[in-house]
Amino acid sequence: MPLTLSDGERPICEFIIGFVLQRSKNIGMAARRISLVNFKGGVGKTSITVNLAASLARELDQKVLVVDMDAQSNTSIWLMGVARWNNLNGMAEKSVWGLFHPESTGLKQCIEEEVLLNEHGVERIPKLDLIPSVYKLMDLEHEYQDDDATPYFAKFRMQLEILFDQYQYILFDCPPNVFRATKCALFCSEEVYVPANPDLLSVQSRREVVLGTTMCQNHKTYGTSITRVRPHDGGSASGDPI
Ligand SMILES: Nc1ncnc2c1ncn2[C@@H]1O[C@H](COP(=O)(O)OP(=O)(O)OP(=O)(O)O)[C@@H](O)[C@H]1O
Ligand SMILES: [Mg+2]
Repeated sequence: MPLTLSDGERPICEFIIGFVLQRSKNIGMAARRISLVNFKGGVGKTSITVNLAASLARELDQKVLVVDMDAQSNTSIWLMGVARWNNLNGMAEKSVWGLFHPESTGLKQCIEEEVLLNEHGVERIPKLDLIPSVYKLMDLEHEYQDDDATPYFAKFRMQLEILFDQYQYILFDCPPNVFRATKCALFCSEEVYVPANPDLLSVQSRREVVLGTTMCQNHKTYGTSITRVRPHDGGSASGDPI
């Protein structure tokens, strides 16, 4: 994808390329890592993440890790059930937030094993694990103090890549923006999936905002996937039909 870098973007781009090249030498059989992203909200990112993950784990016997990068925590609540997630919400160190504080949290603590319900919503899927989100993840965007030597997205990836050879799929459900949490997901992924409603605003945000980010330069993309027949089927949507 042609991309013109500004002077401000060039150093960060060089950092990213150097980091990935250097570390990828140490990774053996790595999971397929896929981010579900759209700048537009309500387009089905979470619905696809949850259903894709459950299908891969339950129907195809694949070992799957879902990483919830959205402070709304919809994926986590869906996969854990509201009671189990409510217990977790006050313990941010046991969520994706913990990956930004490796000095005080072990990676193992941040993984909820065998999700899709219980406490006592019943079914659990043995091969489906989750690094859940909590509301505290909102602080990543503003209050989290970055470290110049190891930016937030590199710190995140250094934690997560320990798990790359333990799963066949790692799916990242992203919030409806391309701020820090989404950039972390993109930095860990090789593939990007952009769900969209059949309306102008959902599709328009794809190229400029998602695929144009510095993090996305070398990713495989598969075009835009339209998740409904009409823009207003099911949940909310806006913009003119295309
Ligand atoms: N294929 C579909 N057809 C109809 N409705 C759908 C479809 N996919 C998702 N929905 C509905 O659309 C709404 C938004 O879906 P979802 O939460 O998955 O979107 P999202 O992109 O994750 O939203 P957000 O940007 O807020 O995280 C939900 O009510 C969901 O049930
Ligand atoms: Mg969502």
